[in-house]
Parts: sequence; structure tokens; C-alpha cells
Amino acid sequence: MAKQRVLSGIQPTGDLHLGNYLGAIRNWVEIQENYDSFLFMADLHAITVPHDPAQLANNTYKVAATYLASGISLDYATIFVQSHISAHSELAWLFNCITPLNWLERMIQFKEKAIKQGEDVSVGLLDYPVLQAADILLYEPDLVPVGEDQKQHLELTRDIAQRFNHKFSSEENPVLKVPTPLIRKEGARVMSLTDGTKKMSKSDPSELSRINLLDSPETITQKIKKCKTDPTRGLEFDNPDRPECNNLLTLYMLLSGQSKEAVAQECADMGWGQFKPLLTETTIAALTPIQEKYHAIMDDKGYLESVLKQGKEKAAEVANATLLKAKQALGYSIPL
Ligand code: TRP
Repeated sequence: MAKQRVLSGIQPTGDLHLGNYLGAIRNWVEIQENYDSFLFMADLHAITVPHDPAQLANNTYKVAATYLASGISLDYATIFVQSHISAHSELAWLFNCITPLNWLERMIQFKEKAIKQGEDVSVGLLDYPVLQAADILLYEPDLVPVGEDQKQHLELTRDIAQRFNHKFSSEENPVLKVPTPLIRKEGARVMSLTDGTKKMSKSDPSELSRINLLDSPETITQKIKKCKTDPTRGLEFDNPDRPECNNLLTLYMLLSGQSKEAVAQECADMGWGQFKPLLTETTIAALTPIQEKYHAIMDDKGYLESVLKQGKEKAAEVANATLLKAKQALGYSIPL
């Protein structure tokens, strides 16, 4: 029996941090043996806010190298660049014409990003979730594992698929496969180190708010030393009055690979002075091997390019077949 298919992607903008790793990539690694995975770098999404052309390609290589360094294996996964497959842009256009404007205007991420952009909001930023729907539906995935912040975009993807099917195909023979989101509770939302109620984010102006995957041991030590805590002794999960405490314990749990119960017990009587060095040591131990692999891969662009070329070929085959079905359903039937 053919394996079920997984699809997901990350935008190549800025340095990846623990939120990207624990909320997304690590989950892909955990399940990869049981699935046929399609993992990509969303470089078309990366230009929905002002970007630097001189950085775009390198940022894309960096995300690919991070996937590989984090343990994504080419035995199970196809890694590719979104802009290499023109079907993404093409299907996004077709979806544009069946997506009501007000579905996009109520997207939380659009509203948040639009506020930051001021006058300069592009049509692309509004249209971002439609492109994401095309990314997903082209590959007919069974599962789409993403972080909690992408939930609304996945619901929109399902809505677009259902609307398309309803308008342009029969119930017995739908053109588009409606995917299932996979949102992990634990680690789906890694919070800021300076405010336990806000998501850890690339766009937070404070470097101290996040641990980047490539941070040196010294930087990690400094960031954890300065991170926000509270004056209460004894550490616990899930106390709504102690968001930082919950976040730091969750990081420790995920990075040490222990169960929640074990961590709750180990840390129940600890003060921050004892816990912070423990978290520091655990974080450095988890990230060092990833960093070593990452640098080796980045130093071998020839290898990386061969991975992406192979990925492109495999992805294009799947994507183009779905695009053709969608075009035919819409009435594009004149032979080439
Ligand atoms: N919007 C996603 C993010 O910011 C990235 C993304 C683009 C994506 N296309 C996708 C994720 C398709 C999953 C599936 O994280």
C-alpha cells in the first residue's frame, strides 16, 4: 500500500529559531518514516513583505540545510523550492478567482502583518493564504503538519477546496482532496523568552526574545540568563498566571526528550537559579549536533543543489498532474 502523504513548508525569511524547530521541523522528523513527505521552502511567500533580493537565494539554501541537519531524510522526503514549480503560482491565480475577498480580509495573520507594514501593504500579503492553499492542494496530502499559528490558513485551504469541488466537480468525483491539519499541542506554540504570552517570532525586534538554531553556546547562555521569569519558587506547567514558567518548562521537556510528568517532578522544587543552567545545558546539547551538520551541508552547495534539483523533478510531476485536473474542471480544454 502506498504511504500517506505529508506536505509542509517554511518561509525563507530570517534565521530559524526554536519555535520553527520544535513547532514544525522536529515533528516532521518524528513522523517521516511512516509517510511520503513533501517539504518545501516558501520563497514566493517570502516576497509578500519587502525583501532583499541579495538574500533570497541564500535564505532558501539555509532552510533546506536546516531541514537536512535536523534529521529530515531523503529516504522519506522530497525537499524542493516553491518557486521552482510554476504550478504553485498558476493554481493560486485560479483559486483567486473563486475565493471571496472577505475570506482573506478576516485572516488574523494578514491583519497583524498589515498593521506592521503601514501604507505599504501589497496585494500579495492579502493573497498569501490563497497561494498557501495552492501549495497544499497541488500535492493532495493526507496530513499538513503546521504550527498553531497556521490553523486559520489551513481552514481556509479546506474552504477553498470544498468550494472548488462544489462548483466544478461532482460529489462522487471531487477534483481536490481536502487535507487534514496536524497541529501538535506540545511545542506547537513556543513562546517569546521576554514575554511568555507572545509567540516566539522572527519579526520580534528583540533578539533576546528568541533562541536561533544557529546561536552559539555563549549567546544561548546569555539569552537564557536574561529571559523573563517570575518571583515564585517551585516550577510548574499550566499555571495561567505563570506563562513564562510554562514556556521554559516546555522547552526543557521538548529539548531533553523527557515526559511532562518527569519534568514536572524534577522541577517541582527548583528555583530559577537552578533551572536556568539546566535549560542552558540541555539547549546547547540539543542544538550543537544540528549546527555541525548544518555547516557541513552549507559548505557543500553542489550537494544542496542536487537535492533541490531532484526534489523539483519529483514535486513537479505531482503538482502538474493536479494543476491539469483543476484547469480541465474550470474549462481549459483546448489542446496544447
Ligand atoms: N505560511 C506558512 C508559515 O508561515 C508557510 C507555508 C507556506 C506553508 N505554504 C505552506 C505551510 C503550505 C504549510 C503548507 O509557516
